Amino acid sequence: MTGDLTIDPAARGVVPGGDDDRARSAVDPWPKLRIGHLEPRYPIVQGGMAVRISTGRLAAAVAAAGGVGTIAATAMDEEELRREIALARSLGSGIVGVNIMYAAREFSRLVHAAFDAGIDLLVSGAGFSRDMFGWGREYGIPVVPIVGSGKLAKMSEDLGAAAVVAEGYDAGGHLGTKLSALELLAEVRAATTLPVIAAGGMIDAADVSRAFDLGADGVQLGIRFAATVEANGHDRLKQVYLAARDEDVIVIKSPVGLPGRAIRNPFTELLAAGEAPPPEECIDCLKRCERTFCIRDVLCFAQQGDIERGLIFTGGGVGRINSIVPAAEVIETLFADLRQLRGAVTKD
Ligand SMILES: Cc1cc2nc3c(=O)[nH]c(=O)nc-3n(C[C@H](O)[C@H](O)[C@H](O)COP(=O)(O)O)c2cc1C
Repeated sequence: MTGDLTIDPAARGVVPGGDDDRARSAVDPWPKLRIGHLEPRYPIVQGGMAVRISTGRLAAAVAAAGGVGTIAATAMDEEELRREIALARSLGSGIVGVNIMYAAREFSRLVHAAFDAGIDLLVSGAGFSRDMFGWGREYGIPVVPIVGSGKLAKMSEDLGAAAVVAEGYDAGGHLGTKLSALELLAEVRAATTLPVIAAGGMIDAADVSRAFDLGADGVQLGIRFAATVEANGHDRLKQVYLAARDEDVIVIKSPVGLPGRAIRNPFTELLAAGEAPPPEECIDCLKRCERTFCIRDVLCFAQQGDIERGLIFTGGGVGRINSIVPAAEVIETLFADLRQLRGAVTKD
């Protein structure tokens, strides 16, 4: 299956070391992010967001704008994942990765489907296995686990990770730590020499600048990209993100066995009252599930615009989002603001 979807990395402009790159990094007031052989123009990763919030279209838009785009594969089958990767490739050039939750029963199958389709990198959420680093070495594809402690970061380094995402408690979706993004970043930075990508609660240039000051090599943003034109959530869902205030953001207990950050709505009220509807047709999609409700179904409901029955995952900064714009605009505005904030002179 290798071959037809694989594009020479040089054609995507991701090979390091060009003169332009060197001139740019000499004046850019932000770090250069290297993930194995990959060097995005900007040190920003769009977080993978299931179910079907970050699909090929969003990943392609972020990649074309100079960041790392990520397709969230969890709850897709192999065929759908291959289609989304092909779609992302057909829409433009740049670095496109796949995010798969280790907790998904189909983890190994989806990773291999993504590798065979010529994806640029793998990000694993909610856990990782020793095996996946070996698979990455076999295919020459960088593997990046999301970690919630310095200890897990060091373990990832020893197993062969190309970088780690340090995702703090302010983040969206399932949460693997109680430490804030900046607290976790400091712990992870001290524990590993790997490139560290900070994640959780970042919306604007001031947030990102703080992460760079604490030694992050890159940042991963989730909810800011979920509220863009190319994100695959229903318009009604995007309107909920826009309307959300800080006090609407809560933490629920997911059947995966982890807390999850979400926007308060009729579904979370039912959950709090112990009245969430039990799973109707369980397809056993998770390696471990408490079956209190079907996380896959309720995330799908939200993605499809049923904002009452759905579970609306969000990052902690959603209250500060006030526009739905193209993903490229998010990146351009962020780095223009960063340039101003961090005081560098542009060199032409
Ligand atoms: C709607 C939504 C779905 C998410 N789904 C996943 C996922 O499938 N896998 C994963 O590793 N992280 C997931 N995340 C976490 C994001 O990839 C990202 O790391 C996190 O949202 C960063 O925090 P922020 O949203 O505050 O920027 C999700 C986040 C959101 C908001």
